[in-house]
Amino acid sequence: MKKIAVFPGDGIGKEVVRETVEVLKIVDKKYKLSLEFEEALVGGSAYDEYKTPLPDSSLKLAKDSDAVLLGAVGGPKWDGLDYSVRPERALLGLRSELGLFANLRPAIVYPALVQASTLKKEIVEGVDIMVVRELTGDVYFGKPRGVEKLSDGSEKGINTMVYTTPEIERIAKVAFDVARKRNKKLTSVDKANVLECTELWRKVVTKVHKDYSDVELNHMYVDNCSMQLIRYPKQFDVIVTTNLFGDILSDEAAMLTGSIGMLPSASLGSRLSSSGSPIGMYEPIHGSAPDIAGKDIANPIATILSASMMLKYSLNSEKASSDIDNAVLNILNKGYRTKDIYEDGKKLVGTKEMGRLIGEEILNEKR
Ligand code: IPM
Ligand code: MG
Repeated sequence: MKKIAVFPGDGIGKEVVRETVEVLKIVDKKYKLSLEFEEALVGGSAYDEYKTPLPDSSLKLAKDSDAVLLGAVGGPKWDGLDYSVRPERALLGLRSELGLFANLRPAIVYPALVQASTLKKEIVEGVDIMVVRELTGDVYFGKPRGVEKLSDGSEKGINTMVYTTPEIERIAKVAFDVARKRNKKLTSVDKANVLECTELWRKVVTKVHKDYSDVELNHMYVDNCSMQLIRYPKQFDVIVTTNLFGDILSDEAAMLTGSIGMLPSASLGSRLSSSGSPIGMYEPIHGSAPDIAGKDIANPIATILSASMMLKYSLNSEKASSDIDNAVLNILNKGYRTKDIYEDGKKLVGTKEMGRLIGEEILNEKR
């Protein structure tokens, strides 16, 4: 039995997770994976019920599971809340409590969607980038932090960028290992010309490289990287970077593919399940999109592809994972599109119908 904690969260999170669980049930049946799903509240919906975005019961469920499937959290309803209970704290709490320091965010441009990109076809055609984002350090967690009152009545806001050698070493190793299984090219992104913290980042990544001489390593400043991503994205294979830079660059990389609604992610740490696989959290990189929530127009593909990553990394089911990937590809090739990736001449479908089509395609695929 493999236990999956299901956290739909807020906004479109609920809709895209519902479709994804249906898809997981289909592969479960097809491959007899004996998956067990348990749902709980996180984010704003948890706050409404328990006055905290990450109730102990939800955290415990996550800790007792082989994998976590998460939709998205947040929305204008909770924007006025104190930082300590904002929906986003649930995400950050889960990441740190589960020790999920490595966040893998693949940005793949599907041939069928080349036209959906806002960039020229020749720029984005064939793009296949993996962003490896450090997820439990940096200004996201560094101390001191907060807003202080000064004696003259003004205020001072503080966040601290911090990285230690072991934190950099472990994420660098993950990135080199990922690169080794791909095209053996790693770009480490920092701001070493200004920030001492990332000068250390560069030094440590360079040191770890000694154990990975088969992988080509180059360093790039983050401002240059953000430019290169839209100038010539095909130069990148794997990008490794800090938490904040990774947050920003992964959104940018996502748009190369035409829609942020297409991009999955996996967050992994060093904890292993009883079957020896890494326990991970899987979520789309998009947010809760409150403006389109409840309208059956959100694209469920990012979350469905996150479930595919879950099957591959945490549930040891490569076949079920590639079934999902192929089904998504086929459905796109057959011309089905949600609103975010729609273009003239294609078949416009809603969230539910897209989920159903992908599920049906999986059933039709041969093993
Ligand atoms: C992401 C999101 C989160 C982050 C927010 C919602 C806290 O933007 O997963 O990229 O900044 O990490
Ligand atoms: Mg983000």
